[in-house]
Amino acid sequence: MIGDPASLDDVITGEPVVPGEGHMPRHVAIIMDGNGRWAKKRMLPRAMGHKRGVEAVRNIVRAAGDFGLKALSLYAFSSENWKRPEDEVSDLMGLLRQYIQSDIAEFESNDVCLKILGNYKALAPDIVEMIEDALARTSGNKGTILAVALNYGSQDELVRAANAAAAGGAITEASIAANLDTAGMPPLDLVIRTSGEQRLSNFLLWQAAYAEFWFTDTLWPDFGKDEFGKALDDFAGRERRYGGR
Ligand code: IPE
Ligand code: IPE
Ligand code: MG
Repeated sequence: MIGDPASLDDVITGEPVVPGEGHMPRHVAIIMDGNGRWAKKRMLPRAMGHKRGVEAVRNIVRAAGDFGLKALSLYAFSSENWKRPEDEVSDLMGLLRQYIQSDIAEFESNDVCLKILGNYKALAPDIVEMIEDALARTSGNKGTILAVALNYGSQDELVRAANAAAAGGAITEASIAANLDTAGMPPLDLVIRTSGEQRLSNFLLWQAAYAEFWFTDTLWPDFGKDEFGKALDDFAGRERRYGGR
């Protein structure tokens, strides 16, 4: 049936999606929210919440591989997060440096292909260099695509994509999609947001057109593999109609 994801060919490999696996999401995006509240509840500095948040990221990236996801997109730093106090932004950038340095070897051995969503070139030059090194080292990997959104805003992404599409000729749905930061990734199936907030906060607006949503009150540092599995199970039981009947 047209529109049934189980009958679509895999956009990356061109292979048919195996019947029975059609209910497993291929691409999951997570809005990792609640680090600040996690720390506040414990009377700890916000930086501790972000530090524990990185540990949650590590667990969830491993779990995505275990669950066999094709792609995982993680919202790590939005283009609006620059509005935060300078010391918090600097703590987050410090954690980003540490994370890339400590986990790149694991991406290499676990066949993880790193991708960046957003205008990462506006980050500090040493971070840009680290990112480009990590992208080059993992670009041939065929396992899970890990797309980390850094200095990402979906409206900014759409403006960039529309300009690139216009420069190449006509603006069409296909030409916009081909110029988004997510180009080459499978369609977005499921968006998860932690911490009880139920909004997109400028994340993957175009890509979420037919995505399913799953919300939890759990604060990001407490989000683990078991709860991730619950979200995937819940997704598996949903019927997607894509406007059909
Ligand atoms: C998410 O946690 C991390 C980033 C946005 C970088 P928050 O820092 O937004 O935590 P809350 O929402 O204040 O609890
Ligand atoms: C969204 O969280 C951005 C990330 C998770 C990186 P925010 O905490 O910045 O979102 P708002 O401000 O509550 O919408
Ligand atoms: Mg928040």
